[in-house]
Amino acid sequence: MKQKIQVTKVQQSRIAEVDFDNIPFGRVFSDHMFVADYRDGEWQDYRIVPFGDFTMHPASMALHYGQAIFEGMKASKSNDGDPWLMRPEMHAARINRSAERMMMPAFPEDVFVEALHALIDLDAAWIPPQEGSALYVRPYMFATDEFIGVKPSESYKFVIFTGPVGPYYAKPVRLKVEQHFVRAVPGGTGEAKAAGNYAGSLLPAHLAQKEGYDQVVWMGGPDMKEIQEVGTMNIFFVIDGTVVTPATDGAILHGITRDSFLKILAEKGIPVEARRLTIDEVVAAYKAGKLEEAFGAGTAAVVSHVAEIAYGDLHMELPPVEDRKIGIMLKDYIDGLRSGRVEDTHNWIVPVKSPALV
Ligand code: COI
Repeated sequence: MKQKIQVTKVQQSRIAEVDFDNIPFGRVFSDHMFVADYRDGEWQDYRIVPFGDFTMHPASMALHYGQAIFEGMKASKSNDGDPWLMRPEMHAARINRSAERMMMPAFPEDVFVEALHALIDLDAAWIPPQEGSALYVRPYMFATDEFIGVKPSESYKFVIFTGPVGPYYAKPVRLKVEQHFVRAVPGGTGEAKAAGNYAGSLLPAHLAQKEGYDQVVWMGGPDMKEIQEVGTMNIFFVIDGTVVTPATDGAILHGITRDSFLKILAEKGIPVEARRLTIDEVVAAYKAGKLEEAFGAGTAAVVSHVAEIAYGDLHMELPPVEDRKIGIMLKDYIDGLRSGRVEDTHNWIVPVKSPALV
């Protein structure tokens, strides 16, 4: 029989301390978290407890060998105040694809979704009401064996915590095409949402930030000409009326927002292609005056307009945001779906249910 989620509620909520009109991204955490442990070959001890610290053994394997994966998703409130999730089953499936690549145990997808409902139902008051804000949801899993030696851990923790957020990037981003460092190659871990992929992005991003950019555009292919993604999101270009995003080739994150955008564009009859895209093609489009838009797509970023892309000495300045049709439409569509303003023709919105808790 499936185990029930045991709930221990906080004695006193911290919500009164939060200024919902001024929320820094990633620094405010809601009252509760979901936790499960993997030991003796199975997931057990499903529980929702007050958000708080874990104790950690110094030899915990996640700290040494990096078995740590995560998801990022958002819960929002409809205009009527009902809490909603978007495509939760996609995140449940993706964390298990990441788990498989990192030799970690799959987490039961039905429990993943049930835990989301239970947690968000309990902390629904933490969902910011403003359109464009949301409750960020962070499911993650890490190895907990106390051991030195490179092998898969035999014990893990799976956790979901949440926190209210505003926009990830407050203004259009300036990107530098990275020509020295690589994020991933086909066959590596680039498709997994593995913590180490993000650690590896920090030095290149830091160096780019010292030059005044916000992030790097990762390149791949034998001659480092193929566009992959940005450090924090997938990337889309609008070239002469056609929306183009790099195809997932074994090195690019299978973004769920990316997937939603491909489906929305197709539904609207806007030409859209997921294919190999080189920086040479982007430069040629820019020089011909046909590079109309570029934007990042991710759970955190939603749509993040690109103001500039630097490729060596070439600084490609993109048209002002107010002239961009596609990125603005996609952001409006997602915000509208989340608030209930836009009809959910894809059945992506899942109302949060109050599951039976013990
Ligand atoms: C997300 O988009 O949710 C991510 O996990 C990426 C991270 C940069 C916040």
